[in-house]
Amino acid sequence: MSNIVLVGFMGSGKSTVGRIVADRLESEFVDTDCLIEERTGRSIQKLFSQDGEAQFREIEARVVRSIASRDRQVIAAGGGVVLRPENVACLKGSGRVVYLRLTEEELLERTKHLRGRPLLEGDDRRKRVRELLQERRGLYEDAADVIIDTGELTPAQAADAIVERLGLE
Ligand code: S3P
Repeated sequence: MSNIVLVGFMGSGKSTVGRIVADRLESEFVDTDCLIEERTGRSIQKLFSQDGEAQFREIEARVVRSIASRDRQVIAAGGGVVLRPENVACLKGSGRVVYLRLTEEELLERTKHLRGRPLLEGDDRRKRVRELLQERRGLYEDAADVIIDTGELTPAQAADAIVERLGLE
């Protein structure tokens, strides 16, 4: 089986849904943020504050290259992975990309209590979400082989939809 790559905004449920899909397909679940933290021995937040976003993106691209060289995985990709075309090319070459899509309002609700996301920090979270989504919406859509609107789905329903849309039942 080639990989299944979940992309989407922070809070869209990539890790929760990805774990369920991996269980169903008896394949490995990997999360780019967890791998980055394991490899560097630092939290994403520390990496951002100590080394900056640019350095984080370098490490992220390295992690993407290394996971894309393996198969039979369900991959939860960090929300900013689509910012680099080479990441997208690498992931698309390793499997099928699924965009977990939510509206701005749904994302605002889902990210309300999300911690450890340096890019969402600041006083005006609504503005942050809107700006980032404007920048990325098209990138997620272009990267995707399949788009699933998950705003009204439970994680289990979203996992069902992925398995069905990819024809893996
Ligand atoms: C980021 C998303 C985060 C993490 C980092 C940057 C982004 O991952 O990689 O905070 O740029 O959208 P999740 O999408 O898993 O929250």
